Amino acid sequence: MPYRKIAVLFLALGFAFGAAGMVAGQAKDEKPADKKEDEKPLTKAEYDALMEKEIQDAWNKLKINDRKKMGEKAAEAADVIAAASAKVLRYDGKVLDGDNKGKLAREQKDFKDWVDALKKHAEEYAKHARKGDWTKAAASREKINETCGACHKVYEPPAEDK
Ligand code: HEC
Repeated sequence: MPYRKIAVLFLALGFAFGAAGMVAGQAKDEKPADKKEDEKPLTKAEYDALMEKEIQDAWNKLKINDRKKMGEKAAEAADVIAAASAKVLRYDGKVLDGDNKGKLAREQKDFKDWVDALKKHAEEYAKHARKGDWTKAAASREKINETCGACHKVYEPPAEDK
């Protein structure tokens, strides 16, 4: 084969691979932009609404129905908390103090552990309440309460900063 033809062939191949590479690159770039709606950080307003209207509201219902020994209703409230826990992880706020000050709270191990704990104890509470096992339910309820408090103590900004 004359060298010119070979050169043209390589040039053509180069274009072909180049184009394929660009397409592949674009396909890769599209993924983060396509990032699922349910994984995006929440705005401050969305997060406050999550805490107050979803989680605090469900927690109040849980405690009221627990007191009345209304197992199914108390369990349903716990189900709401367990389902909402994934959203707690979408907090966009920062670490307030210490070595990691200014970093994203949701990337800290203790924050993630408290989110997991919230889900786990809410699920366990629901199971016990449905069975009417009030001794075990009380232990899970106390653990939920401790988890809310532990996370707030470290991560909730003081009232005057809001
Ligand atoms: C993993 C961490 C975490 C857990 C667990 C958690 N919270 Fe929160 N919560 C926060 C943070 C962070 C804020 C502060 C949000 C802000 O002011 O930007 C907050 C704020 C709140 C607020 C105030 C909202 C406002 O408008 O300022 C309420 C009410 C609340 N949480 C209820 C609860 C209850 C009830 C539970 C447990 C059933 C709970 N939270 C569990 C992290 C958590």
